[in-house]
Amino acid sequence: MTNQQSILPFLACPETGGPLVQEGNELKNEYGTAYKIEGGIPRLLTPSKTEEEEKVRQKMQAFYETVTFPGYDGIDSPSVLMDKAKKSGFGRWLDEAISPMATVMEVGCGTGQMTNFLGLVSTRKLIGVDQSIPSLTLGEKFRSQFELKNVSFVQGNIFALPVKPNSVDVLICSGVLHHTPDPYGGYKELLKRVKPGGYIVIGLYNTYARIPLGMRKCVFRCTGNVFRKLDAHMRRKDVDQSKKEIWFADQYRNPHESWHSVDETLKWFDDTGVEFVSGVPDIGGMAKSETPQVQKLFAAHPRGTPAQHIAKQLGWMFTIGREGGLFVLTGRKK
Ligand SMILES: C[S@@+](CC[C@H](N)C(=O)[O-])C[C@H]1O[C@@H](n2cnc3c(N)ncnc32)[C@H](O)[C@@H]1O
Repeated sequence: MTNQQSILPFLACPETGGPLVQEGNELKNEYGTAYKIEGGIPRLLTPSKTEEEEKVRQKMQAFYETVTFPGYDGIDSPSVLMDKAKKSGFGRWLDEAISPMATVMEVGCGTGQMTNFLGLVSTRKLIGVDQSIPSLTLGEKFRSQFELKNVSFVQGNIFALPVKPNSVDVLICSGVLHHTPDPYGGYKELLKRVKPGGYIVIGLYNTYARIPLGMRKCVFRCTGNVFRKLDAHMRRKDVDQSKKEIWFADQYRNPHESWHSVDETLKWFDDTGVEFVSGVPDIGGMAKSETPQVQKLFAAHPRGTPAQHIAKQLGWMFTIGREGGLFVLTGRKK
């Protein structure tokens, strides 16, 4: 069975929502409309529904076709990928939290490093979705080189997601929704695909933590990037120069981004029947038996109060703010 055949039960036509069947190198919907499979990647990208959304989507597609994020330089084997993901803390905690039998989808997977990393557990099923073919091609190259038979990549749009409702146990979307014109609308599209009782993991730029970066962006704009070393990431000795360039473009030259607070995201959860489970960094205190080094992402955590959240987020300016100010909330669909 090819990779595409094994994920067919999860895929849906992006235009009709109906089932897809494979005929040679194409997937066909119930009316015979064909979508190509090229380079091992089903091409299921269709436009967003509104003109405004489509305009931003196209701009972002063009940007991420040049800036393939995150960079693969220096990652030449599963063990190097594993070391990198584990060093980040978040990757390790996610891997520990997700069941070895789970179906996991990463939307906006970029070059698919997280998708491939989580797919190193061969009993899991992993599907990475993104609209950028150059990014997906890098993920697919790694996948096929190391024969990760349980991992597949699909080209698709969050706002016309080619995935059946209630089909995945875990949905991850980190660093993506804030690059769309309607982050809450995108979140609701993602949530539809999560099984009841499943988890949704959302990473967003934080309104407070990103303030220092916003200020640096103004400085760089006025000085033609002369003071790039003001950015802590650009001073790091443990990151390749080419990866730094990709990171710099993603952070400082991105054509579209929005910032979000903890309470805004919790309201998304509350309004859509999602129970808050955990935050990275934590938003209301650790769960029992946790330490800053060992976090249990799918264990119930204290939610904290709005006042505590403001205090925490102000503090994030000096912690996660140094690396872009991304925070992650995990919720459970009731
Ligand atoms: C900053 S990258 C994040 C990559 C990865 N999630 C990570 O954390 O390293 C954002 C990704 O979102 C994708 N993206 C943006 N808008 C999208 C849309 N409407 N549908 C699908 N992917 C989208 C881009 O192509 C890009 O690869």
